[in-house]
Amino acid sequence: MRTISRFQGAILLALACASAVSAQSAPQQNPNWWKNAVIYEIYPRSFQDSNGDGIGDLNGITSHLDYLQTLGVNAVWLTPNYPSPQIDFGYDISDYDNIDPQYGTLADFDRLVAGARQRHIGIIMDLVLNHTSDQHPWFKESASSRTNPKADWYTWHDPKIVNGHRLPPNNWESVFGGSAWQWDPARRQYYYHRFYIQQPDLNWNNPQVRKAMYDVERFWIRHGVAGFRLDAITSLFEDPQDRDEPYVLGPDGKPLTNAYGDKVVQTIYTDDLPEVHTVIRQLRQVADQTHGRKVILIGETYLPSVTDLRRWFGAKNDELDLPMDMQVGFINKFDVSLFRQRINDAETKIDGNMPLFVFDNHDNPRWDRYVTADHKDDVGRVLSTILFASRDTALMYYGDEIGMVTTPPARKEDIRDPIGIRGWPKEKGRDGERTPMQWNSSPIAGFSPAGVKTWLPIPPSYARVNVAAEEGNPDSMLSWYQQLIALKKNDAAVHAGREVMLNPTDDRVLSWLRIAPDGEAVVVACNFTAQPQTIGFPLARYGMRGRVVRTLLKTPGAPNVSRAGQVQLGPYGVYIGRVE
Ligand code: GLC
Repeated sequence: MRTISRFQGAILLALACASAVSAQSAPQQNPNWWKNAVIYEIYPRSFQDSNGDGIGDLNGITSHLDYLQTLGVNAVWLTPNYPSPQIDFGYDISDYDNIDPQYGTLADFDRLVAGARQRHIGIIMDLVLNHTSDQHPWFKESASSRTNPKADWYTWHDPKIVNGHRLPPNNWESVFGGSAWQWDPARRQYYYHRFYIQQPDLNWNNPQVRKAMYDVERFWIRHGVAGFRLDAITSLFEDPQDRDEPYVLGPDGKPLTNAYGDKVVQTIYTDDLPEVHTVIRQLRQVADQTHGRKVILIGETYLPSVTDLRRWFGAKNDELDLPMDMQVGFINKFDVSLFRQRINDAETKIDGNMPLFVFDNHDNPRWDRYVTADHKDDVGRVLSTILFASRDTALMYYGDEIGMVTTPPARKEDIRDPIGIRGWPKEKGRDGERTPMQWNSSPIAGFSPAGVKTWLPIPPSYARVNVAAEEGNPDSMLSWYQQLIALKKNDAAVHAGREVMLNPTDDRVLSWLRIAPDGEAVVVACNFTAQPQTIGFPLARYGMRGRVVRTLLKTPGAPNVSRAGQVQLGPYGVYIGRVE
């Protein structure tokens, strides 16, 4: 089991060394719809194949809008579906103003947006600004000479010559392994690529690049999107002096190495540079001024601390609406005090802004990374309770609601994600969290028509873990998610109430209070152990007149409230109750 997020690794390693370390109406009507909302991430390749090619598509997503409405989500974030050579499965874009034929057409996209709108669901587009595909006409032109009109659209650099040998300009590394510099024989220069070689980084110092991308933003706003998820947004700029990054040293004083065999660097010259905030403010202005309605900006912000996160809302709250808070969801250790501290930080250290909690996405092993022994589903219930019953906007990943688990490829030859091929066996890539959605117990799980070879195999769990089997079963994970989301939407305290941690020295049960502006309160308790626990709520201390709790939701089969103010929790049990 990996214990830290794949992308967070370098940051956390650096930190470890330094410190030993119902606003629920339609998006188009209510400018605050995204606060305390639920956003559902879809990996389009893997949600529903409507045309029998083994790959999910937009019409497949449209066919499940009723399912998403019943689940209760307010918005859907689609990972990229633009035309792309699909080296990084869509994060290498070759045309920003269209849809990849694998996924459908612009007309299909418009139908998806319209159908979602009818169901009060917003569509959030993934905007990849840091880099394009090397097949994008901009890059082809830029690479064609040192004097063409787009010569300066990407990050080109002369080589360093040492003893007559040509070397990359510095030690900057690709997140996906190896040097971040690629030699281009035509220009006789290197270009910088933070990700794959086929993903050259744009030069954001160039005003023409900015204008081109702001036009892309306008294009999709005009197609009705409710917002954007800004990919790799912290890494738009690099150090103008091209300084070498420092290495992260291990206890023996030698640089640590990663799964690709590279020395681990602290990305202080290639990530989170101050210049990026000017661009975010400009993106904000375009979002605010294009169509006269609220368009939200979400950021992919893997940052080392809550203090860093605070900056991304903007000094005048004029930057991102929802920089992702990876502090809570990617603790990756089932530890009560760590969760208590990080949730409390989100409540107290970001100036009342809205945290966006994330536990799962298409880049990291799913929630089952937290499970070390039995009680898998109950641990899933604990994690989802933290996600939905905290004061946050909740970002969930398709399939988590039915309890889909990480299913990495067993053999190197089956891998589709190139980092898995390069990093095998230490890094198996991201296929394990991108497997097809499990709709029913038919042989292809209802993802593709019968007899089709799906782009990634259907995980063996599909026979039991699938939508059809779980719908209508009150004890299923799907029912649990539906009930939690309904509470988040409809209960004033769970929806937007302030959050107060209870029993702050308890290291077995995480418990907290949500208090609505009118004083209505709800208690939440999650048992982090495999043993039964009894927990009391010191309500008087928080000015609560009520002394008893009435059950709103609890782990199936769990005991009830034993006596006033005390609750028994089974192993990894969850209890949510109203104070009366
Ligand atoms: C982001 C995406 C990831 C992608 C990378 C490069 O981190 O989430 O999937 O590979 O950016 O675009």
